[in-house]
Amino acid sequence: MAAQRTLTALLLGDVLGQPGCRALFIGLPQLIKQYRADIVVVNGENADNGFGLNDELARQFFSLGVHVITSGNHIWQKEEFRPTLDSDERILRPANYPTSAPGHGSTIVEIKGMRVGVINVQGRMQMSPIDCPFQVSSRLIERMKKTTDAILVDFHAEVPQEKEALALHLDGAISALVGTHTHVQTLDARILPKGSAYITDMGMCGPYNSVIGSDPMIAIKRQMTQVPYRNEILDAPATLQGVVVTIDITTKKALSITPIKENFHI
Ligand SMILES: [Fe+2]
Repeated sequence: MAAQRTLTALLLGDVLGQPGCRALFIGLPQLIKQYRADIVVVNGENADNGFGLNDELARQFFSLGVHVITSGNHIWQKEEFRPTLDSDERILRPANYPTSAPGHGSTIVEIKGMRVGVINVQGRMQMSPIDCPFQVSSRLIERMKKTTDAILVDFHAEVPQEKEALALHLDGAISALVGTHTHVQTLDARILPKGSAYITDMGMCGPYNSVIGSDPMIAIKRQMTQVPYRNEILDAPATLQGVVVTIDITTKKALSITPIKENFHI
């Protein structure tokens, strides 16, 4: 039998607390089947009630068919989860945090005879002044390019200009760069000039009629009073948002990128 020459990657945006997890548990097996996904990458930085991740949820994600969990600035918020970041290579924290921080920012997974590199980096505009995402991701790509059939990057960042700049900087050297963090899906999914798939933000797996996942009543009060009332995730049916990317593993370039937005009324 001839070896598989294309890879289909299903990537999903930040999973928001219980509504996001419920939708993922119900909807992910269906999405994997529908899109014939070979690899599933999910951003889990908001899965544990909006702030970080825990061992039980990570275990459930993997049992559903997730291969790699990426994250971002909220991944540090559950102190008891930090040892897992060190021990489980399938769970990433942004690679451009100091090397002394727990965990790692990239991994290589083997799927159906293909080796797929996954890199997680975080932006610096309106975020913590960590190491340069351009230099760190370039170094990691250089290190893994000879031994991988495709490279996927989750860029967890606030500002579109930083996301577009990194995507165009890495264009042709990776198969896809997908943005996370803003929780709002952008309408700019495309193949860049040198063949990498790109979207500024994949959106979130969370309650849609919310303020980036939070209860609107609290979010509006925060805005109107400028008092930092504690945000709470809106307990409402969630939407699964992300993209499906097909990749020619001979060239390592993307053939297509399709945004997805699926409602699960549970
Ligand atoms: Fe997030």
